[in-house]
Amino acid sequence: MKSSLQIPGLHESLRVYYFSDTHLQATSPGNPALPESWRENPKPILPCSSQDLLRRHLERAWKAGANLILHGGDLCHFPSPENRDLALELFREFQIPWYAVPGNHDWYYPGQDGWEALRERQLPLLSPLFGHQPSMWCERIQGLRILGVDNSCYFLNTQQLHFLERELQDPSPCILMMHIPLSLPEFRAPVIAKHGHPIMMADPEERLREGIDPEATRKAAALIRSAPGLKLLLSAHVHLPLQGEVRPGLAQLVPEAAYRDGYYLLDLIPAAN
Ligand SMILES: [Fe+2]
Ligand SMILES: [Fe+2]
Repeated sequence: MKSSLQIPGLHESLRVYYFSDTHLQATSPGNPALPESWRENPKPILPCSSQDLLRRHLERAWKAGANLILHGGDLCHFPSPENRDLALELFREFQIPWYAVPGNHDWYYPGQDGWEALRERQLPLLSPLFGHQPSMWCERIQGLRILGVDNSCYFLNTQQLHFLERELQDPSPCILMMHIPLSLPEFRAPVIAKHGHPIMMADPEERLREGIDPEATRKAAALIRSAPGLKLLLSAHVHLPLQGEVRPGLAQLVPEAAYRDGYYLLDLIPAAN
């Protein structure tokens, strides 16, 4: 899907290839972390090998002349060394700058239970796919700040809130990428129809867990909804192509899962202030 957006303060046009939810499944035959039940009945079923799937997207980005590749998470269906190595190798082969945020599947194997502690233990298995500080980061490209936060457990913590407070009080243009969409009224019906629950961040029906204080997430959501410099919100996770308005002038884009060939090609164009 193609889209274009005028961004004040951007030095030069940027063509961005945004995709997510590739759910790569490369593994050694004897990987003990992968349960037999999943091997017999793998889900999701990829249309081709993991290698070909990622290559197909990167080739499309390259042919389209993308200057930047962003991946919104669930790059891998589980954190195997084979997934990490094939993704690193392919991203490096294409030599287009790329940044990614973690999704929930990036840090657990099918059948494993757990949230923050499991993420802390297993996300490093995919290092450095998500950068050296996957929890929150800011990159500057052509005068545009690209922010990433890891909300793959559905919540943000106090450090992430402080990071967003700092970055979003700067009125210069920025884009924010996070795996789990910010709940929008118009996203709720299609997401509930597909998943049975509103699996989004800061949803009115938020699912609380023991030990979680939702206050930082609520404050961060309010900040995202009102930050004047924020020009685009990119999210993923629900495997549905969605476009919604967070507020006038701020769109949230969710692509169809990349294993079902979803992606966005975004032309960011300099605009007068
Ligand atoms: Fe996914
Ligand atoms: Fe996900």
